Amino acid sequence: LDDKQKWRKLLDKKIEELNKSSNFGSQNKVVLGKIQHILDQINADDNARIIRGHLNIAYWSKDAKELDKITSKIKTEFKELDIIPYYPRGEERKNYILNSYCCFSSNFSNNDLYVTDLKHALCLFINNTNYKSDATGIIFNDREHNIPVLKDVWDERKKRIKARNFAIFAPTGEGKSFLANNILRQYFESGVRLVIIDLGGSYTKFAKLYPEKYTVLRYESGKNLGINPFYISNANDLTPERLEDLSVFLFELFASDLKVTKAQSVSVKKILRHYYDSTSENHSLDGFYSFIERNQKDLLDTLKIHPDYFNVTSFLHVMSEYVGDGLYSFLFEVSEDQTYKIEDKRLIVFELDEVKDNKEILSVMLKLIKSAIQSTIWKNRAEKGIILFDEFAKQLKFDNVLESVEFYYQAIRKQNGAIGIILQSINQLPNNSTSASILENTQVIYSLNNEKGYDELVKRLNLSSHDLNQLKSIKNNLSGPRKYTEMFIKIGRESNIFRLEVPKEVYAAYLTDGKENEEIMKLYEEHQDMEKAIIQYTSKT
Ligand SMILES: Nc1ncnc2c1ncn2[C@@H]1O[C@H](COP(=O)(O)OP(=O)(O)OP(=O)(O)O)[C@@H](O)[C@H]1O
Ligand SMILES: [Mg+2]
Repeated sequence: LDDKQKWRKLLDKKIEELNKSSNFGSQNKVVLGKIQHILDQINADDNARIIRGHLNIAYWSKDAKELDKITSKIKTEFKELDIIPYYPRGEERKNYILNSYCCFSSNFSNNDLYVTDLKHALCLFINNTNYKSDATGIIFNDREHNIPVLKDVWDERKKRIKARNFAIFAPTGEGKSFLANNILRQYFESGVRLVIIDLGGSYTKFAKLYPEKYTVLRYESGKNLGINPFYISNANDLTPERLEDLSVFLFELFASDLKVTKAQSVSVKKILRHYYDSTSENHSLDGFYSFIERNQKDLLDTLKIHPDYFNVTSFLHVMSEYVGDGLYSFLFEVSEDQTYKIEDKRLIVFELDEVKDNKEILSVMLKLIKSAIQSTIWKNRAEKGIILFDEFAKQLKFDNVLESVEFYYQAIRKQNGAIGIILQSINQLPNNSTSASILENTQVIYSLNNEKGYDELVKRLNLSSHDLNQLKSIKNNLSGPRKYTEMFIKIGRESNIFRLEVPKEVYAAYLTDGKENEEIMKLYEEHQDMEKAIIQYTSKT
């Protein structure tokens, strides 16, 4: 770092001289203008630092002709930057090689140094470090040497992020589900519980690798999932948390767009307790509904609830869609309790392909699944878990679906877990407060290659220009013999580019479409064993 004042004085003097002589020749005028410009910039910027620097490039080759080629290439590159490099010859070269080590630079003479603003000098400051692995995490690869790197995207002690929810962005076919498979598989194998809510069938294959440990609940048109949020196996199940969750569930169903006051919430909890006290078994939404209907005359009086806090008529009206012969009552008909199917599974896939286009059913379904997560799947709140939404893009433009998804973000705060959401573009989250709240709580961002650019991502997520430069450098190879994707990962404020290249067995496991996948699935049909199918398939390639 040099003395700024000294250089400023020097420049001032030079300007004075040039001013006097500017009438003698047009060249002087041009130089004067340039120096004035530099001086103005230094004066305007308090942070400007004048430095003296040195950059040298050493290159070698077995072939002398080759050396000439490299020389002219370097000269051209520098010319683009308006820099004229100096080419030392003979004995002189020793000086540059031997002094280019730490602590020797003071041996360079003033002639070897350039003087400039620190900002410019940093452009020539080549500083390459390698990727650092975290202590735990998901394995990716470094993009330079393809060395595996562990990346801690969970942040156990929440040092880098406050909410560990994540999002994956990329246009169709760029490898979102492939990446999600990779993240989820590694989480699963380290003991994390998974709930996958999928509209596209991208995860049943991966699940099949873990027979006994997974279950798939598929929605079929006109049928329910067998989830009964009112179900309790004995009176001890009815903990205060359970009552809270149940009252939240009812409000979400009953008036999802309204803010629930404390007084209303207390009223519903009172009515729920009263219902469970006076009904010993077969609890259900239908039962709860008829209970209120039967007792509507004196229910509020008995429980000392002011009618302002619970509107019986409106409740009975809105909820009638879900009971008796209501339009959506089939969603709540529970002939057989299915909780045993999910209770002890660590990998649960909800396949909702068939409900795709019915926003009402989808949003009720999501609320039901959330209640199942709270009451059975994830009773132990210390247990680590992840909930993933894939292929939801189109449905998120429906307010009630978006809201139902946002309810998960609210619920997960009490849990030791994360929500992952996969989108083709960030614009699939409409510009409203619900989306804003989702994005605020999403602090791990993955973006794969996007030919159309990253402007929207930068805008909505407030990414820095450094982030954008990194994004623009992403390159995939999905057709060569060694296939890989590159991705931008941002955790809190740190960002970097990683590569995802997997062994052929793993590749076979993550594939969800195409001819190769068909072959693997045929082998699976034959053996009923995914591992065997994959090994047989990969051994011949
Ligand atoms: N890291 C990778 N290494 C090798 N192949 C990959 C990788 N990522 C993706 N692919 C290939 O690209 C295909 C498409 O990937 P994927 O299904 O994950 O895309 P997607 O972004 O989820 O698309 P969609 O939006 O249609 O669901 C995969 O089937 C696989 O063949
Ligand atoms: Mg996909």
